[in-house]
Amino acid sequence: MAEAAPEPCDLLLRGAAVVSWEGATPEGADAVAVGDGRVLAVGRADDLARRFAPRATTTLDGGLLAPAFVDAHTHPVFAAERAEEFDLKCRGASYLEVAAAGGGILASVRAVRAAGEDELAARVVRNLRRMQRHGTLTCEAKSGYGLSVADELKSLRALARAADEVGVTVLPTFLGAHAVPEEFRDDPDRYVDVLCEEALPAVVEEGLARAADVFVEEGAFSVAQARRYLERARELGLALRVHADQFHALGGVELAVELGAESVDHLEALTDAGLEALALSRRTFAGLLPVVPHFCAMGRDAPARRLIQAGVPWFVATDFNPGSSYTPSPPEAAHFARRRLGLSAEEALRGVTEHAAASLGLADRGRIAPGAVADLVHLDLPGVASFGYALGENPVRALWRAGRPVPVQP
Ligand code: NIG
Ligand code: FE
Repeated sequence: MAEAAPEPCDLLLRGAAVVSWEGATPEGADAVAVGDGRVLAVGRADDLARRFAPRATTTLDGGLLAPAFVDAHTHPVFAAERAEEFDLKCRGASYLEVAAAGGGILASVRAVRAAGEDELAARVVRNLRRMQRHGTLTCEAKSGYGLSVADELKSLRALARAADEVGVTVLPTFLGAHAVPEEFRDDPDRYVDVLCEEALPAVVEEGLARAADVFVEEGAFSVAQARRYLERARELGLALRVHADQFHALGGVELAVELGAESVDHLEALTDAGLEALALSRRTFAGLLPVVPHFCAMGRDAPARRLIQAGVPWFVATDFNPGSSYTPSPPEAAHFARRRLGLSAEEALRGVTEHAAASLGLADRGRIAPGAVADLVHLDLPGVASFGYALGENPVRALWRAGRPVPVQP
């Protein structure tokens, strides 16, 4: 019987081992066919070369072809570094001590408020490029360093402009409840009123965010305040993500589960009751941010293995921000996920791809399979076992966004 005529396709990428989770990809696959921005097929190069008539072929020189990273928890809308604060931390100050002394998040707030929208957008462009250079083509990105209606709107507008300019898919999250700004220090409930009555409706009206987030912590927001804010956000149609149990278990995890949040992140201080709530929900993801306990010398980590064993959905993210986790690199987050949380290399890789995408409701990203968006990264690694092994080396050699090569800019 004559062979079927080859199907046209836009691109055939060959010559690198296509990362496969058990059972997901044919054994020995070293090629991907792409058409209309999506993966058409994964297999052995010779088979795909017979099946397809590609308009372009790119032959790679070994290494791994992986899904481009999905960073599901980042804070790239900042205007300045906080290197002095890192110095204080290295000399023994705790994250909460630095924050209580007017540093921390509020230091970033002063810098963002002082920047005009154009200047801020230029900063965010730089930050998104740093993320892209480390293999991220999709990210969840939060505001939260403006903390007034005008400065939060400015932050989200700057983020949208920067995303377009860089060519990274950004899922924006409004984090107006990141800290209580100085001018509301004596009346935080009034600030929550402003968030509920003015900021959230304005953000939704302009279509600037898909989710809302709150930091439930001593010195930030109480569970009662977070409940008011999250219920209003949900009523306005936003998805919910929550920072909780970083230093103190105040009940933020249970609240996140009760309100059907997409994710609750940090969890270094997670209690048995919080873990139980997550295990019963099986819907709210646990966001693992393993660089944070390193950066803040916390001495405690999220109980990742217990969460996984309890069937809680989870992901790994960088938490890229100038205070508690100053890295834009998912492979580096993977290093800490392996070293501190005991994840395997494959788990760490899935954590920053497939699981991260799922936490954002993106079923067609974070994996290389027919129908998925062809967001791909070529990694200079001999195998999956080396993912998150080296420190201080960027394994990214090339990127394709929806099947098109991305010129990675410095
Ligand atoms: O996810 N924990 C709260 N928010 C950020 C830190 C922000 C900052 O220090 O600027 C986090 O770690
Ligand atoms: Fe965060």
